[in-house]
Amino acid sequence: MLKDVGDVIDIDVASLPAYPFIGPDDNPFIPVKDADLERLGGSIGKVRLPFGGWAWLITEHQDVRQLLRHPGFSSDQYKPGFPVLNPIPPKQDDASGLFIFMDGDAHSRLRRMLTAEFMIKNIRRIEPLIEETVIESLERMRGLGAPVDLMAEFALPVPSMTICHLLGVPYSDHDFFQHHSAVIMDRKSGPAEVEGALGALAGLLGDLVEAKRTEPTDDLLSRLVIERVVPGELRKDELVSLAMLLLVAGHETTANMIGLSALVLLQHPEHLAALRENPDLAPGMVEELLRYLTVVRTGLPRLAMEDAEIGGQKIRAGEGVVAMLAMSNRDHSVFSDPEVFDPARREAHRHMAFGFGLHQCIGQPLARAELRVALVELARRFPGLRSEVALADAAQRPMAVTFGVAELPVTW
Ligand code: HEM
Repeated sequence: MLKDVGDVIDIDVASLPAYPFIGPDDNPFIPVKDADLERLGGSIGKVRLPFGGWAWLITEHQDVRQLLRHPGFSSDQYKPGFPVLNPIPPKQDDASGLFIFMDGDAHSRLRRMLTAEFMIKNIRRIEPLIEETVIESLERMRGLGAPVDLMAEFALPVPSMTICHLLGVPYSDHDFFQHHSAVIMDRKSGPAEVEGALGALAGLLGDLVEAKRTEPTDDLLSRLVIERVVPGELRKDELVSLAMLLLVAGHETTANMIGLSALVLLQHPEHLAALRENPDLAPGMVEELLRYLTVVRTGLPRLAMEDAEIGGQKIRAGEGVVAMLAMSNRDHSVFSDPEVFDPARREAHRHMAFGFGLHQCIGQPLARAELRVALVELARRFPGLRSEVALADAAQRPMAVTFGVAELPVTW
């Protein structure tokens, strides 16, 4: 029994529904079981957190929007009382650029330095490199011969190679970068291996920052070194950790989106064929896939720094809140027949798979470009693509930071 400080209400945490909710074992496209929603008892309710304590779970589209643009909620996971959903490492000294966990001016100072880099027009410039990366991975996959694991051979390498191009990692270092990224993202890597790989990448990025100082090239690292580090606006350690944030935030999310999207299209060969016939369908299809799959399934945790009201519910300073994006993307008041995957859905763009408000995903133009190119080329180059597993047997990763399937064996 937990005494709720400052209130007469006793909260019996043990009796609350356990969060994160997970969907049924036999269908990765259903984010939550009906029984869990019933236990929540409304669109906002208290849930028990995996590492102790409780938080408010917010599920409706309009309430999630209200929460995520409210400046009175913190993203700093090291603040006491923060509703932690996944195990977090002890606070590191070299985390000075991780603005995803920062609030207020500290957050906007670093975020602002990247806004221009991720504008659509700048992402268009690296699109030929994305195409090259996608085609190379697919042709290497073909060379291996069926069956192959589409996650390992395609979905995971494409985002890490893309970040490599964006940052300006020279070709000679691509293998090193790829190898250590793969260790970080490999679910079988132990904590010491992951730490070693993070250290190796930070070392590479540190050396690159030095090299770009004297020999800048046309890439993100060079521009930030010349425009921000040299004039003294940004420290080198901040830039290295910011680059690591881009790698980690943009890798697993995009990889799981590519993998799950392929799984959806394998379940619906008519949509895969339509994409092959008409690649112009890709942008709309990608929006619907983002909505339908919502890979950040456990949602976005925040800590109330002041008393607030969200969706009519009083939230008091010190209480934790979780915005459940997967539910808000299936809100009936915004999306008609939300459980149905409909690539022609007109309102698909209203999804919040990239979050909303102050911390809304800065990499979304890049993620969209990667998804579009990956799915079009997959449809074009592998017209006979088939899944080697039944949907019910696809091994899910329900408790991971980003939802996905562990492996996706395919043949063609
Ligand atoms: C389909 C792929 C992706 C999904 C679903 C996704 C999802 C998200 C979500 C939900 C947030 C909000 C986090 C919060 O409010 O706490 C976020 C933030 C962020 N994302 Fe993405 N993301 C994707 C791809 C990328 C890519 C490719 C990059 C960059 C290379 C990236 C970089 C970031 C960064 C830096 C933030 C922090 C923004 C801030 O705190 O202001 N993401 N992403």
